[in-house]
Amino acid sequence: MDIKVSVSDWGAHELLDSGEKLKLERFGDAVVIRSEPKAWWAKSRPELWKTAHARYLDDDKKNSRWLFYKKINAPVLDFKGVKFAAKFMDGSKHLGVFPEQSPHWDFIANAAKGRQNPKLLNLFGYTGAATLVAAKNGWLATHVDASKPSVDWARNNQRLSGLEEKPIRWIVDDALKFAQREARRGSKYDAIVLDPPAFGRGPKNELWKLEKMLPQLLQACQNILSDNPLFVMMTLYSIEASALMAKNMLESFFPRLKTECGELALRGNPMPLPLSIWAVASAK
Ligand SMILES: C[S@@+](CC[C@H](N)C(=O)[O-])C[C@H]1O[C@@H](n2cnc3c(N)ncnc32)[C@H](O)[C@@H]1O
Repeated sequence: MDIKVSVSDWGAHELLDSGEKLKLERFGDAVVIRSEPKAWWAKSRPELWKTAHARYLDDDKKNSRWLFYKKINAPVLDFKGVKFAAKFMDGSKHLGVFPEQSPHWDFIANAAKGRQNPKLLNLFGYTGAATLVAAKNGWLATHVDASKPSVDWARNNQRLSGLEEKPIRWIVDDALKFAQREARRGSKYDAIVLDPPAFGRGPKNELWKLEKMLPQLLQACQNILSDNPLFVMMTLYSIEASALMAKNMLESFFPRLKTECGELALRGNPMPLPLSIWAVASAK
């Protein structure tokens, strides 16, 4: 039984080094230091860390913020013609894009080939990376996220990418409620992407707890998957879970599909940095 390691290979982003529970990365021209609970080892290239423009300070969670060492503008990152505007925002160490997901974007881009108007649902879509790559590559995309600011940010990325004409449905809603409502309406999708956090809230304060609610969400996904589906892709992080566990979950809900699993990692020099686990169920 294989567990694949999918390593990000995206010129706009580079992991320069990691260690001591920190990571040093380049986003476009901006070199930043952020905390990374998975980097347990020692730094390999300590001299490089002096080149950072900024560091995210989050030892004190209530007062977490960016500290700038040098002036730098937030970059716009390009993935094969899709543009993502990064932002430095106090209160979040994320810049608006998860570079380790780039192998998934390639998978989504290639999976629509040969299908007329395939429909993709992206749950927990954040700033739209998977949605915009899908739309650029022939999918009719529906994007769902609980956060209006994240959906506005995604729409801005759509404009930056020149994809205004693409048929994207932008929806601010609770992912589980939306999927269950789609099931009642009889809506169908050829592919579903889900990247649920361990814990979250819907726009009306609906509770999302992965460990408790994932089976309900996968049940709803089963009900809205078309009769001739292309894939279901699930990414998990920050929880007590394994790739095999994610695979077993997809296998139990989608027994007619072929299931694979693995980790998403950033290429490192020398150490790759594992960041999430994934499972994909796809047509045999
Ligand atoms: C880490 S992000 C997902 C990353 C994204 N898939 C990507 O690759 O860019 C998690 C997202 O889940 C959203 N979220 C949290 N709870 C939610 C809920 N109950 N329903 C819908 N979205 C939710 C958050 O607003 C956030 O944008």
